[in-house]
Amino acid sequence: MSLRRLTYLGHPVLRRCAAPVFDMMTAEMAALAQDMVETMHASHGVGLAAPQVGVGQRLIVFYVPSSRAEDTDEVPVQVLFNPEFIPLDDGLVSGLEGCLSLPGLRGMVPRWHRIGYRGTGLDGRVIEREAEGFHARVVQHEIDHLDGVMYLDRITDKSSLLHEYDWHRRMQQAEKEQHDAQSAQEA
Ligand code: NI
Repeated sequence: MSLRRLTYLGHPVLRRCAAPVFDMMTAEMAALAQDMVETMHASHGVGLAAPQVGVGQRLIVFYVPSSRAEDTDEVPVQVLFNPEFIPLDDGLVSGLEGCLSLPGLRGMVPRWHRIGYRGTGLDGRVIEREAEGFHARVVQHEIDHLDGVMYLDRITDKSSLLHEYDWHRRMQQAEKEQHDAQSAQEA
């Protein structure tokens, strides 16, 4: 296993429609998937699509750690070839997203709250399941990468874009306010 070099906004591979994978049960594909998982963890990401490591093929990896499972279940690392999804409700929900190909930025992105998705695993078996909340958001974000779409393209309120320094500042401020409110209650 080895780490792959990430591609960043501006690299043409991120804007191309990735090609379907016809034979996923090869040593080359297994190595690519393993490298992507390793690269995702090393970069502290929760998802990665093959174009983000310079490979224009339809493969994504992702997981939902317990720290991000507020509105969904924890999901172990998934490897999906040729993934696709359909919305299962008609409501879009805005949530904060970041992307390893756009370091430092976060923005509010509208996504379907509940989806059904399908893809093929490393063992060649079809994986089919429903997802909601953050789980559904990650899957939609990664599948977008296979169609050359970045989350920036989906932001309707551009003023929601912020740098992660400011995000950390806001989190600290919110914690402080919560702490102050608690202290006031105790007093
Ligand atoms: Ni991304």
